[in-house]
Amino acid sequence: EVPEAVQAPLPVAELHLHIEGTLEPELIFALAERNGIQLPYADLDELRSRYEFTDLQSFLDLYYANMAVLRTEQDFADMTRAYLSRAALAGVRHAEIMLDPQAHLSRGVALETCVNGVASVLAVSEQEFGISTLLIAAFLRDLSEDSALEVLEKLLAMDAPIAGIGLDSAEVGNPPAKFERLFARAKDAGLHRIAHAGEEGPPSYIIDALEILDVERIDHGIRCMEDPELVERLVNELMPLTVCPLSNVRLRAVDTLNEHPLPAMLAAGLNVSVNSDDPAYFGGYVDDNFAQLRSVIGLSEFDCVRMAANSIRSSFASDERKAELL
Ligand code: ADE
Ligand code: ZN
Repeated sequence: EVPEAVQAPLPVAELHLHIEGTLEPELIFALAERNGIQLPYADLDELRSRYEFTDLQSFLDLYYANMAVLRTEQDFADMTRAYLSRAALAGVRHAEIMLDPQAHLSRGVALETCVNGVASVLAVSEQEFGISTLLIAAFLRDLSEDSALEVLEKLLAMDAPIAGIGLDSAEVGNPPAKFERLFARAKDAGLHRIAHAGEEGPPSYIIDALEILDVERIDHGIRCMEDPELVERLVNELMPLTVCPLSNVRLRAVDTLNEHPLPAMLAAGLNVSVNSDDPAYFGGYVDDNFAQLRSVIGLSEFDCVRMAANSIRSSFASDERKAELL
């Protein structure tokens, strides 16, 4: 038998990835040094000791704080390059990458700086890493819809190379209905639409994301399992759910990987894929997520292959690219 370490990883599309969540502790320190920024941690170990989260918000606090090291286009480019290089080893052949522009604008970093820094590397990702990529502008749901609309208009005016919009950050208390006009504008502009829903929020947020925001994919969606009627609808619509198992454990959405609803979601016939969300924070990239699903909950090779195919089919890649990857 071939040892696991030398088995080629399954070719997958990564559909749920926040580029700022790929900032590894080493890169945080390197960028802080390059930019003359004083970090509130003495060393790597002290930073790593903060990676114990009690819920989504406790993670978001650290995630936003660490973005302080991203100042220049080069910083955004270096972060993106580091992700693609690691993702290639994880078997990622196509990636749809979320960027949180508002989290940078609020720190005085220009829209052009963050967008161009990431996009300059995505433009060469297929040649350099064998990974086709699309950029998705994600909007922070704890901010106002007017703020999101203003940023979307600026992105459209600068002809930013975005394929779609997403909705992330603090879910509970910030329901999809708050962003009805934003998503209507995005649809009108010909953009794809995705939203985090049912990570910490109730099943009704998933229904509202479908009905009010007209999304094409749901990020997370694990709490759909509390509503059998919703599950039936998601199955019938082949609605993609981008599940992030290690993230859900680290953010305490589930107690342990053994209690993760993924096997039940597969059994229900849901269109689920495996994704890393914020791999630098949650203990691993897509390959690590698959490895733990295999070793901890004994997920079958059949299910792994099925989810890899789901990820490619559920992507916004061209039909030609999908055919290459399937
Ligand atoms: N931003 C980055 N990661 C996130 C997550 N898992 N949920 C909501 N917002 C996020
Ligand atoms: Zn996410």
